[in-house]
Amino acid sequence: MRLRNKPWAKPLIAENPQYVVTDPAALRGNWQSRFEKEQPLYIEIGMGKGRFIVEMAKKYPERNFIGLEMQTVATGIALKKQIEAKLPNLQLVCANGSGLTEFFEPNEVSGIYLNFSDPWPKNRNEKRRLTYKSFLAQYEEVMQPTGHLEFKTDNRGLFEYSLTSLNNYGMEFDQVWLDLHQTPDLTDNVMTEYEEKFSQKGQPIYKLEAHFKH
Ligand SMILES: C[S@@+](CC[C@H](N)C(=O)[O-])C[C@H]1O[C@@H](n2cnc3c(N)ncnc32)[C@H](O)[C@@H]1O
Repeated sequence: MRLRNKPWAKPLIAENPQYVVTDPAALRGNWQSRFEKEQPLYIEIGMGKGRFIVEMAKKYPERNFIGLEMQTVATGIALKKQIEAKLPNLQLVCANGSGLTEFFEPNEVSGIYLNFSDPWPKNRNEKRRLTYKSFLAQYEEVMQPTGHLEFKTDNRGLFEYSLTSLNNYGMEFDQVWLDLHQTPDLTDNVMTEYEEKFSQKGQPIYKLEAHFKH
């Protein structure tokens, strides 16, 4: 996702250090200090404009959430939502998810969400896919053994790749959906911006939920 530059984004982030962390490594092992209450911590990598993580934080006040995003403009758009919602259980981080083990201690995270991650279709960009084995190794390190990885996408190629990548890594699948929005009881699903766009076009949404073997 490429967003047009928004000159207000950087200053808005600078004015709201209570909501946005720009040096996540400094909080390694100490993330709970950023929240009103100590409670299980869930992160989304590549939150984009933040609709999913904001809605999750509203829906589950008994959990803490971090929305991580490497683009300043997208982080700024998500921040606008948080400035309005003022959720005490949500923090935003403007950084690249490839540094996850520098940002979080082993077992600091209870669950990880990936939504409509960039597909990077060319073979030479495989390492950038958020379900590539080096990312999975980082998720395994920072997430508690009881934690789950949840991944949604409209991109069939990336989904098939991810099924294989997770399987080769030795992860176990809890559930796989090949057309999420045709599921009869979908009340638990929190939509992302991309999900709304693609499902309105009638495209199937793929989802998997998996955990590391213990
Ligand atoms: C296609 S958008 C989807 C946004 C949102 N999750 C949704 O479903 O509407 C993917 C987002 O992931 C971000 N992203 C991709 N790789 C990332 C990484 N390694 N670390 C942090 N963010 C990343 C991109 O900047 C982009 O905003």
